[in-house]
Amino acid sequence: MLFVATLPLVLMGAAWQAPGTAAAREKNNSTAVPAPTFYKDVLPILQDKCQSCHRSGEPAPMPLVTYEQTRPWAGKIAAAVDMKMMPPWFADPRYGKFSNDESLSAEQIRTIGAWADAGAAAGDAGDAPAPRQWNEGWNIPQPDVVVKMPKPVQIPAHGEVEYTYEIVPTHFTEDRWVQMVEVRPSSPAHVHHGVVYIRPPDSAWLRHAPVSEPFTASMLSDPEERRQAHETTSDLLLVYAPGSAPDRWADGMAKFVPAGSDLVFQMHYTTNGEAASDETSVGLVFAKKPPKQRVVTLQLNNHALMIPPGAEDFRVEVQGTLPNDATLLSLFPHMHLRGKRFEYDIVHDDGSVETLLRVNYHFHWQLSYKLAEPRELKAGTKLRAVAWYDNSKNNPHNPDPDKWVTWGDQTSQEMMVGFFDVAIPAGMDKWQFFVRRGEN
Ligand code: HEC
Repeated sequence: MLFVATLPLVLMGAAWQAPGTAAAREKNNSTAVPAPTFYKDVLPILQDKCQSCHRSGEPAPMPLVTYEQTRPWAGKIAAAVDMKMMPPWFADPRYGKFSNDESLSAEQIRTIGAWADAGAAAGDAGDAPAPRQWNEGWNIPQPDVVVKMPKPVQIPAHGEVEYTYEIVPTHFTEDRWVQMVEVRPSSPAHVHHGVVYIRPPDSAWLRHAPVSEPFTASMLSDPEERRQAHETTSDLLLVYAPGSAPDRWADGMAKFVPAGSDLVFQMHYTTNGEAASDETSVGLVFAKKPPKQRVVTLQLNNHALMIPPGAEDFRVEVQGTLPNDATLLSLFPHMHLRGKRFEYDIVHDDGSVETLLRVNYHFHWQLSYKLAEPRELKAGTKLRAVAWYDNSKNNPHNPDPDKWVTWGDQTSQEMMVGFFDVAIPAGMDKWQFFVRRGEN
């Protein structure tokens, strides 16, 4: 899978309303409702919806834990929640229910706005809820095994960094079932995303690449391996991006890591003016019992896309039928800079379309959408992914609105990938899953 170079998320554009300016002067003088305060009204929202990322050691740029830390950001916070840029969540609320949806209610948004507009008062510290206890280190239970990059990757202060790989042997002497998995970069502020692949011992993928040390595709001497770096059929263990939650599958479901596998880290680092080094770790919690179902990551791709210059809302679709019964668990759309919307549908036999997810796509955030209720799908179910692209000059991320755009791994090219996780019988692997009944 490919993720590409990115720019920092810029929430600005509209004028930011700093506390103490016009809005504060115009503050509501009516006697009815007192203005919200930090301790009483705002802090509980921050604890619940923001501090998972906005605390030290986590990917967001500033902690929002104390009043002193939060006060200078009041105007930006109000604007970010009003624009629904924060917390990052891009699913159209009309479709589907997702267990990792942390969006704010309309009332919470109003509370934060009113607080900022009225001058962002602290209020009475006695009203504050107890500080939220965070598990520093892991958000999954203590891992059974931590697989860490043996050599740190040096990240420069400036410029773009080519995808960096590190192949790490697991030394597993027996097959393992992984029920929970979490990626922890040591420099999260520099990580745009990471993908961890499972490379079984019989896989030929990147066999000539160095092991236990960082490398990039352009450092590989064999052109075929250079190309392969970006294309693999290896199963994904998980994808990490700011905002992505660890994977925890229900009891009875797990990912399979064969004995002797390597984990291949594919890291996309971004620079932010300060050089750093990163050693990313993956924590694995093994299933306590052999699972009934194996989780695999599949994809609906359309490699044939051709987006005309200037097109504002160009639609690309791909359909596939499930070869066997499966339980649908989560959806993870992927496009590049011209991505605008992405949708997953079931097309029923009578032609009716049931939308599972529609994402108003935001290139800077690559999120997985975990179904609140896993969905049993029968063999033959028609799944459809539809993507819309904005190749016009109105798209602020568009590097060149005058170009025809086709598939490719560069930011200036496009992708149309609908990843989805399904659970299938534990004894079946990905290849067996694709054998349709009656075909062998
Ligand atoms: C899933 C992680 C995550 C959650 C949850 C989250 N944020 Fe953020 N937030 C970030 C990251 C990462 C950035 C920096 C984005 C960048 O620079 O690319 C950010 C940026 C911001 C900014 C902009 C800072 C600037 O430089 O202008 C504000 C304001 C903000 N967040 C407020 C909030 C508030 C308020 C909440 C809760 C209602 C929240 N965030 C929840 C990760 C998160």
